Amino acid sequence: MQLQQLEANPNRSAMADFEKGLLDDPPHIEFKFFYDKLGSHLFSAITELPEYYPTRTEVDIFSLHSEKIAQEFKGLESLIDLGAGNCAKAEGLFSVLAIAHYTAVDVSIDYLTETLGHLQARHPQIQVNGVGLDFSETLLPLKKCVQGPSIVFYPGSSIGNFSPAETRRFLTQVRALACGGGLLIGVDLVKDKAVLELAYDDPLGVTAAFNLNMLRHVNRSMGANFDVSDWSHLSFYNEQESRIEMHLRAKREVIVKWQTGSRMFLEGDLLHTENSYKWTIPAFSSLLGELGYSQVKAWTDPKHQFAVFSAHAI
Ligand code: AVI
Repeated sequence: MQLQQLEANPNRSAMADFEKGLLDDPPHIEFKFFYDKLGSHLFSAITELPEYYPTRTEVDIFSLHSEKIAQEFKGLESLIDLGAGNCAKAEGLFSVLAIAHYTAVDVSIDYLTETLGHLQARHPQIQVNGVGLDFSETLLPLKKCVQGPSIVFYPGSSIGNFSPAETRRFLTQVRALACGGGLLIGVDLVKDKAVLELAYDDPLGVTAAFNLNMLRHVNRSMGANFDVSDWSHLSFYNEQESRIEMHLRAKREVIVKWQTGSRMFLEGDLLHTENSYKWTIPAFSSLLGELGYSQVKAWTDPKHQFAVFSAHAI
């Protein structure tokens, strides 16, 4: 088993990016700040909510169609798992895809080390590698870790958290990374507005806690002084943009300070924290075609809530 930590862009300053976002109009914070330790647990809790359909629907799609999906990737033995987390989704596909090499990629190698140790013990015949990389900016450093045609696996509809331009750039880099192999990706679909809005504003308030927890994270990591009780959760479906938007709304006038600056928010002002784009099957299929993928197939659930796309990267 090999483990390594890679740096996406050592010259980029997280503090400068954070400050730029807060001083922008409208102000925003990068969605990666959701995922400190508590935020990751809160996201896990979201996936258990009856209102949040994507995770369980994707699991259902894999159990319904895995044999047919495997046919699409015959002869490919290497799996690159982007945003691997606890590696459970990929592990579920090891036997049906006949995987011999597995590369798990996540933001930090610390998240992966223990999980991969257990995984390697359960699958001694598979060559397991772990790579720590914040790949939201670029996948390029990964190229040197992978040889030969691979299936790039990007489940969970995380692609929806990228803007359309970032999505194109990311999928172009994925195609190069797959090196003549393929892509297996989970994508959330456009659907009834009420269903979407409930999934991002659940009555228990878990999504609200997930959104607000970002403020605690930036207080710790960026030296900010947000008071969580000054803010409330807001999410809605923007039909024109085909995306759920998540924001934090100031309950009163506040001045927020951080290490290198400050900004005043008036009552009702919004701080944009996340977009979650929803696609149609034709739109995502034609995007993959445009970017040079072939044999694009969409696998879906009976209610057409979610889709898993398989495609050849040649
Ligand atoms: C991780 N990502 C795909 C989730 C989503 O649905 O966009 C994050 C999330 N935000 C609120 N609830 C879940």
